[in-house]
Amino acid sequence: MKSLTNKRVLLGVSAGIAAYKAPDLVRKLGELGAQVQVILSKNADQFVAPLALQAVSGHAVHDHAMTAESESGMGHIDLARWADVVLIAPGTANLIARLCQGNADELLTTVCVATEAPIAIAPAMNQQMWQNAATIQNMQTLASRNVHILGPDAGEQACGEVGPGRMLQPTDIAQRVAELFQNSELTGKRVMITAGPTWEALDPVRGITNHSSGMMGYALAQAAIEAGAAVTLVSGPTHIAKPERAKVVDTVSALDMHAAVMAEIDEQDLFIGVAAVADYRPADAAEQKIKKNADEMTITMVKNPDILAEVAGRDNAPFCVGFAAETNDVAAYARGKLERKKLDLIAANHVGGSDTGFGVPDNAITLISKNSIIELPKQSKTALARELISEIAKAYNKI
Ligand code: C5P
Repeated sequence: MKSLTNKRVLLGVSAGIAAYKAPDLVRKLGELGAQVQVILSKNADQFVAPLALQAVSGHAVHDHAMTAESESGMGHIDLARWADVVLIAPGTANLIARLCQGNADELLTTVCVATEAPIAIAPAMNQQMWQNAATIQNMQTLASRNVHILGPDAGEQACGEVGPGRMLQPTDIAQRVAELFQNSELTGKRVMITAGPTWEALDPVRGITNHSSGMMGYALAQAAIEAGAAVTLVSGPTHIAKPERAKVVDTVSALDMHAAVMAEIDEQDLFIGVAAVADYRPADAAEQKIKKNADEMTITMVKNPDILAEVAGRDNAPFCVGFAAETNDVAAYARGKLERKKLDLIAANHVGGSDTGFGVPDNAITLISKNSIIELPKQSKTALARELISEIAKAYNKI
């Protein structure tokens, strides 16, 4: 996982000469792991070819017009919801003025009014236009509404003049967008997260496992990194990209995972058990592949250690967060687990349906502590992970 992995950037390109850099910007955002969709403002296609943007983003480019046809696909509300951030680059003086007024006169400005996502803008214009009193006031207005202003740079301009107003370089814009997702809620804290399934071997080629994909635990690791934590991710076997800035310890069985956790638990401030650890393992794994000679076979299973309960039960235990995946009476079972395992928080989620839980991109969670219940509604696991880490940090910082 990279700094923008799983992040959706909606890039609005307005009609200025710096628009010719937009395909490169899409590439740079992609290199940091972002998914990018592009909306062209009116006349931007005079400066950059829509086909080039389609090729580098892997998505059809959205035109400025809001027609019945465009709205029947991914319309302005869907795009506004899709974005984790709306990035406008280049941002012309005209577009900036229209944003200030809250105009919804074309697709890009309408999405900006409709979105809850943060908006970032990389201004690009002639130095005199940048220093014009109206532009200065408009920029102050945008900043007061928490629009992130990226740049501009100063130097030689396309018009031949020299001064402030050049768009930042695509590499710098992409980096600044990645930084928008970072906060300091867990700065300096050490967080260990278990994630994924475990594999309990029956013989060298077969084993018992479950449907956990690791997505939720990995998303939490990424969100904890963005919140400034030093993250150790103890992972069962998964097929998803590792977070780039976490220490990842790969494990296979519950016993491996237990050993990996215990080896470093003393150094942790928080422990989040997301892994779907097998409750039992075969008592004896066969050394050779089991042959199908018998008509029946019985496998004796023995109990695995409960990693989370053991961590939470230690003297000087870290702040412990568990997960409870249930198919019924979710909150009641979760509360029981919170008490039994001596946890600080438990994240309860409903599994067994087809649209949340194991192996699907969305999830909804009820976060329960001894004296509070917080509902985090259905959303992507990435967005949910950010909210969860924020709530966990708040609860941790309270104690
Ligand atoms: O008891 P149950 O398995 O439902 O509890 C789920 C929680 O406990 C999860 O947070 C899971 O990561 C953790 N757990 C564990 N070790 C086990 C079983 C569960 O850490 N052996």
